[in-house]
Amino acid sequence: MYRREGEPPLIKGWIPYLGKAVEFTRDAHKFLTTTQDKHGDIFTVRIAGKYITFVMDPVLYPCVIKQGKKLDFHELSHKAGQTVFTFPPDLGIQGLAENLAHTFSFLRGDHLILLTESMMGNLQLVLKQDYLCEESGWRVGGVHHFCRHVMFEATFLTLFGKPSHTTRHVDTDALREKLFQFDGVFLLLLAQVPISLLGSMKTIREEIICSLLPENRQKWCGTSRFLQETANMLDLYPMFREKDKAGLYFSLLWGSVTNTIPAMFWTMYHLLKSPEALATVRRELNQVLQLSGQEVGCGQDITLTQEQLDSLLYLGSAIKESLRLYSVAANFRLTQEDFNLQLDRGRCAKIRKGDFLVLFPMATHLDPEVYEDPEVYKFDRFVEDGKEKKDFYKRGQKLKYYLMPFASGSTICPGRFLATNGIKLLLSLVLLHLDVELLDNRQAVTMNPGRIGLGTVSPNSDPPFRYRPRPL
Ligand code: HEM
Repeated sequence: MYRREGEPPLIKGWIPYLGKAVEFTRDAHKFLTTTQDKHGDIFTVRIAGKYITFVMDPVLYPCVIKQGKKLDFHELSHKAGQTVFTFPPDLGIQGLAENLAHTFSFLRGDHLILLTESMMGNLQLVLKQDYLCEESGWRVGGVHHFCRHVMFEATFLTLFGKPSHTTRHVDTDALREKLFQFDGVFLLLLAQVPISLLGSMKTIREEIICSLLPENRQKWCGTSRFLQETANMLDLYPMFREKDKAGLYFSLLWGSVTNTIPAMFWTMYHLLKSPEALATVRRELNQVLQLSGQEVGCGQDITLTQEQLDSLLYLGSAIKESLRLYSVAANFRLTQEDFNLQLDRGRCAKIRKGDFLVLFPMATHLDPEVYEDPEVYKFDRFVEDGKEKKDFYKRGQKLKYYLMPFASGSTICPGRFLATNGIKLLLSLVLLHLDVELLDNRQAVTMNPGRIGLGTVSPNSDPPFRYRPRPL
């Protein structure tokens, strides 16, 4: 492709079609930062036949984020939904994107309060039945397995509801394992690898979708308002079959757990590794409970209001620090028209219709100019003088977008408040009800690169820990 004047430099690679795909998929962060060193803050890379313009400097992020309609996310995500979750091909039409966006409002405000209460009830239910049984001795488990087990079931119960005649679904473990097996091939499906080449994945996808069909869902009660409103909205589209709608519920279930669980894992793992961090977070939590006159073990379930959750500064900081280090989502947008992207200091770049424009926040999250010792996990990095620290700088300029695990702008993750509340609640319950210790504090757990570009990354191994109910 010839370059027009004013366009960013093009890095094509020498392999036709693939371009720089191999380098990019091998280590996206390294590839992009070395390309930035050579070509500057904005450049276009040819990857698997696509032209992708990366804007690397966080000072320039606002210039991209404010572009609004020139950059599409919904068409892209619906295309991904067709390939991965079997959405019907015409899902992008008839105001569906706007209607879906409206249903996301049921994850905020007063609805969030109800969802958070329900999440707390469900977390306590699973914890009590599976981890706080009468015997007082130590038991051993894997930190990652623990997070998956409790968070998946509590999220499912909170969003989709429980069986009418009992408190828990019998097949949650099987559903969870299938969903994470499917998540393991997500990027391959996105890259258009036919599902028939991916072993049992077609059957697994079919089984998950079938489990969310009305014949099953109508036996459940306590379904969240968010899911009910989504169902009501989808009923306005008679052309969708029940299977199509179940595919969309599958995508919501996937979106609600696949990032939250690793974020929960990394926070719990790092807190367990550091006695200082654990003690600080526990002290903060006990203060909040004392102020509200609550006592653990008095027979009453603990409650934490939104205000109390917001006041847990150190716990909030520990979660943000996990998201900084382990959230590796790239923000992809599809350019809808040729336009001039105004940058800083009078600079401007010509962007072509049909190319992708991408922000890669990991580069900022690991930039030593923005974060001191960026590779190190510091649980209190986002606390300063007893308040949330929000001042981070690049070239002396205060950054608006220094932490972007949930993306940004009008398409920012609508579940971010529920995700953060859920992690805070589960960690609070763990700290209040359990003694917990890592069994091997020396061996570092590394990231599994399988979700790079997609979201929060999982660990490569499951560190063993021991736990027992905390003596009252
Ligand atoms: C730590 C946990 C989470 C992280 C890091 C995360 C991150 C993200 C990111 C990066 C996006 C893409 C946004 C964009 O590119 O503009 C997204 C979208 C989305 N997330 Fe989350 N998410 C999390 C938890 C949740 C939860 C708990 C829910 C649901 C209940 C949820 C529901 C969604 C939905 C529905 C979208 C699509 C939004 C749209 O189509 O406009 N997420 N999330």
